[in-house]
Amino acid sequence: MNFKDKVVIVTGGGQGIGRCIAQTFASKGAKVVIAEIDDEAGLENEEYIRKNGGEALFVHTDVALEEDVKNMVNKTIETYGKIDILINNAGIGSGGTIYTILSQ
Ligand SMILES: NC(=O)c1ccc[n+]([C@@H]2O[C@H](COP(=O)([O-])OP(=O)(O)OC[C@H]3O[C@@H](n4cnc5c(N)ncnc54)[C@H](O)[C@@H]3O)[C@@H](O)[C@H]2O)c1
Repeated sequence: MNFKDKVVIVTGGGQGIGRCIAQTFASKGAKVVIAEIDDEAGLENEEYIRKNGGEALFVHTDVALEEDVKNMVNKTIETYGKIDILINNAGIGSGGTIYTILSQ
């Protein structure tokens, strides 16, 4: 599929599944916003995508903070003028049994 000039926000786009999603959209022509709480990971993926000929913008974002999300959306609109796709990927997982997870 071709995502040329589509604007895609990937929350948690610095590492893991989100990192791969961001790189894949960028490789298909999308402009990718990496909305990530971990600055080092977000910047690293922004640089990786740009070095590989893609378009990416890292915006420090904690998706649990309304102010951060508003700022990230404003920066996306300022930079790319629109939003086409949101990949709501950010999250944390924890292992263990149902009992240990519920008691955390
Ligand atoms: N890996 C799995 O097997 C699996 C299974 C089911 C669901 N998931 C879900 O898929 C998503 C990605 O999983 P993953 O394995 O790639 O995880 P990961 O920990 O490798 O990556 C998650 C990314 O989200 C970022 N992040 C965490 N909290 C954030 C916040 N508040 N605001 C912005 N960014 C934040 C992290 O810094 C990290 O870069 C998660 O939501 C996870 O719960 C993963």
